[in-house]
Amino acid sequence: MLDRMTTASRIAVIIVAAGSGTRLGADLPKAFVPVGGRPMLAHALHSVLGMSERADIVVVAPADRLDEARTIAADAGAPETTVVAGGATRQASVAAGLAAIGDDVDLVLVHDAARALTPSTQFDRVVVAVRASGRGAVPGLAVADTIKRADASGEILETVDRSALSAVQTPQGFPRTQLAEAYAAQPDDFTDDAALVAAAGHPVGLVPGDPLAFKITTPWDLVRAEQLLGSAQQIAPLPRVGVGVDTHAFGGDGALWVAGLRWPGEAGLVGHSDADPVAHAITDALLAAAGLGDIGSVFGTSDPRYAGAHGEVFLRAAAGMLREAGFGIGNVSVQLIGNRPRFAARRAEAEALIAGILGAPVSIAATTTDGLGFTGRGEGVSAIATAIVFAAQ
Ligand code: CTP
Ligand code: MG
Repeated sequence: MLDRMTTASRIAVIIVAAGSGTRLGADLPKAFVPVGGRPMLAHALHSVLGMSERADIVVVAPADRLDEARTIAADAGAPETTVVAGGATRQASVAAGLAAIGDDVDLVLVHDAARALTPSTQFDRVVVAVRASGRGAVPGLAVADTIKRADASGEILETVDRSALSAVQTPQGFPRTQLAEAYAAQPDDFTDDAALVAAAGHPVGLVPGDPLAFKITTPWDLVRAEQLLGSAQQIAPLPRVGVGVDTHAFGGDGALWVAGLRWPGEAGLVGHSDADPVAHAITDALLAAAGLGDIGSVFGTSDPRYAGAHGEVFLRAAAGMLREAGFGIGNVSVQLIGNRPRFAARRAEAEALIAGILGAPVSIAATTTDGLGFTGRGEGVSAIATAIVFAAQ
């Protein structure tokens, strides 16, 4: 009966990133080559950080890039990562990583940095299988192509029964004692850890792999990875829309303020602040799009700090709140409804002013209501605003 591992066991992930990437042919070692704007190593770290259980991380890097690897780990949100120098073969690099893991670790995953797009769920699957079985587990995919065995001259000797074949990936997980014993046995050079552990007499099982865990080996693989990341961005969260409406009545004692501008010679609007319906409608639309409430709940309708405040104050504050909540502003569109002021002549000025405040395109249209309703009778002015916001990357 094999030992079952308890859930109290501590996990270490060794990310091997010390290869030169001869087949990729870039002018950097492969794990430092960017894919989707970030080094492959950063992607691999990101996957480890997404595991449902926390794991210690050891990165094995080329001896002349240890500091660079540390910076990548810190930027990826894993500043505690141990970074050690690799060896001449993958196996030597894994051995170097294994020598650096903590004493209390009893489950070790070994992962290729070159499998940059491996989902975190694959790591979790391997951990669960090792824990449940007390033996090594490696992810594998059924082989789709028909496989032939040929001699050196290219003559086909046989068609191999592919139903029993799996193409294996990483991370490969093992009870620490089994992996350490296999490495201590000074084995021949194998291309994966499962072969080495099996050679040491420990059975290893398969778990389902994931096509995204393919190894970036050639320039063609790199193109495929870039394309996959590009299409993932296309299915990024949908933008969010918000709407805001505001109305103020004529009869205020001050000047008229609309769309952040002062309108000399026009009757003023009544309000606690400067009564700018365009600025207020935009503020409400922005807050609503981000799910941050509305102008009344955020700023209060009678807060003395906002007595006479210009629309710009609310616009700047709302834009700041959105930024802090992780939203960018796509664009804002506003319709001003009223007989006065005659807006068209200053449309460009108003749009530029508010676009500058928000850091996003703003369009403002104006209309009358053909003499109908309170706006048609000249009793007040309304504005309706729509804002699109998106989760900033
Ligand atoms: N690796 C390593 N140390 C080595 C060789 C390989 O840490 N001496 C790592 C690679 O960085 C990679 C993983 O092992 O993440 C899988 O190896 P492979 O895809 O073969 O990468 P390279 O050896 O870098 O590429 P190539 O064989 O084309 O030179
Ligand atoms: Mg190699």
